Amino acid sequence: MARLGVLRFLPSQPMLLLVLFVAADAAGKGDGGLRFRREDGTFKVLQVADMHYADGLSTPCEDVLPEQVPGCSDLNTTAFLYRLLRAEEPDLVVFTGDNIFGNDSSDSAKSMDAAIAPAIAMKLPWAAVLGNHDQEGTLSREGVMRHLVGMKGTLARFNPQGVEIDGFGNYNLEVAGVEGTLLANKSVLNLYFLDSGDYSTVPSIHGYGWIKASQEAWFKQISSSLQKHYTSEQPRQKEPAPGLAYFHIPLPEFNNFTASNFTGVKQEKGISSPSINSGFFNTMVEAGDVKAAFVGHDHLNDFCGKLTGIQLCYAGGFGYHAYGKAGWSRRARVVSMQLEKAVSGEWQGVKSINTWKRLDDQHLTRIDSEVLWNRSYN
Ligand SMILES: *[C@@H]1O[C@H](CO)[C@@H](O)[C@H](O)[C@H]1NC(C)=O
Ligand SMILES: *[C@@H]1O[C@H](CO)[C@@H](O)[C@H](O)[C@H]1NC(C)=O
Ligand SMILES: *[C@@H]1O[C@H](CO)[C@@H](O)[C@H](O)[C@H]1NC(C)=O
Ligand SMILES: *[C@@H]1O[C@H](CO)[C@@H](O)[C@H](O)[C@H]1NC(C)=O
Ligand SMILES: *[C@@H]1O[C@H](CO)[C@@H](O)[C@H](O)[C@H]1NC(C)=O
Ligand SMILES: *[C@@H]1O[C@H](CO)[C@@H](O)[C@H](O)[C@H]1NC(C)=O
Repeated sequence: MARLGVLRFLPSQPMLLLVLFVAADAAGKGDGGLRFRREDGTFKVLQVADMHYADGLSTPCEDVLPEQVPGCSDLNTTAFLYRLLRAEEPDLVVFTGDNIFGNDSSDSAKSMDAAIAPAIAMKLPWAAVLGNHDQEGTLSREGVMRHLVGMKGTLARFNPQGVEIDGFGNYNLEVAGVEGTLLANKSVLNLYFLDSGDYSTVPSIHGYGWIKASQEAWFKQISSSLQKHYTSEQPRQKEPAPGLAYFHIPLPEFNNFTASNFTGVKQEKGISSPSINSGFFNTMVEAGDVKAAFVGHDHLNDFCGKLTGIQLCYAGGFGYHAYGKAGWSRRARVVSMQLEKAVSGEWQGVKSINTWKRLDDQHLTRIDSEVLWNRSYN
């Protein structure tokens, strides 16, 4: 694991190593699942949007400065990902679609393997959803998702079992409280992943796909059962655990902001949401536990804005073989949850959700740091 990098600087007494490995296990993967870190009560997610990976070295960069064109390829996307993983040491990496640009890839499986490779090489747990370009190569949408769920280190799942559902890659992940505390076996943070589709297949409706009724029904059911469990089973919690949603295409509600009420930038003419509103935003508001939703798709928008209690966030474009803006750095979004500490010193449930972005410049500049949600002020 990346955070074991410190080992290199420590004397090699077996006791010290043992302590560190125990700490690393508690911090990382508990009983195979995700878990908050004991050292500082945090859990950090790195969102990587729109890598648009194709054939590696032979795939050129788009929208970079003229002097940056020579020697620029998909490998620059890979290099950015490695730098970021080393700098942030996230507990989970989430790839929010258009992970590959199928149309320019000669082998979709190979492109996906190369795109995700840094997370696997660094042994970091990762999850992924599909965008609208992942299936444009040698694999269908179903095929791409089947490939993703078979890759090393993945926490992505194909779809819930025994449920009729639209799309590929609808699933949820639970993040347990700190090992050895009262919440060690409870999910104190819930992550929802949805397939927001690619393009409309309804002739009378143009444009992008949308989250369907079957997916909303699944989300409502799982959110409700997680909330019930958290608040009614021992040790009972007063409020539901917060949730985060990840998918590719922005909801129409991303259009409800102006520069006066978001942090970040909106540099695209329109928000590329579906042309109809299928209601998933309202469904999240009604469910009550989701505090923020994270998307990609519009590479030049990177803002977060709060609407009816839910933060709607873009990550900004990550990949070099994706449209961008020359001179405007490729970027990624980090979200870090902080647990509350009891007077006794024991870690409890989530206190705040914080975010910032990292730019692919010399110092991986950190920008737009903000609190997306905190328990005391809601
Ligand atoms: C792409 O990577 C090459 C090789 O490391 C490097 O020289 C170049 O500056 C990078 N280009 C960009 C735009 O980051
Ligand atoms: C896919 O590639 C073909 C041939 O290179 C090109 O004509 C077409 O516009 C591309 N489609 C997309 C979605 O980029
Ligand atoms: C959590 O589960 C483990 C393993 O089953 C058990 O040893 C531990 O006592 C449980 N902790 C709590 C707080 O329920
Ligand atoms: C978002 O904006 C649309 C019109 O652009 C409006 O109809 C809708 O009520 C707004 N939604 C919320 C939750 O404010
Ligand atoms: C953002 O500000 C604009 C203009 O001040 C206002 O019309 C809009 O309703 C605000 N949106 C939200 C979500 O607060
Ligand atoms: C919680 O949020 C409020 C309002 O955004 C902010 O003023 C406060 O500093 C935040 N508290 C913490 C602990 O981040």
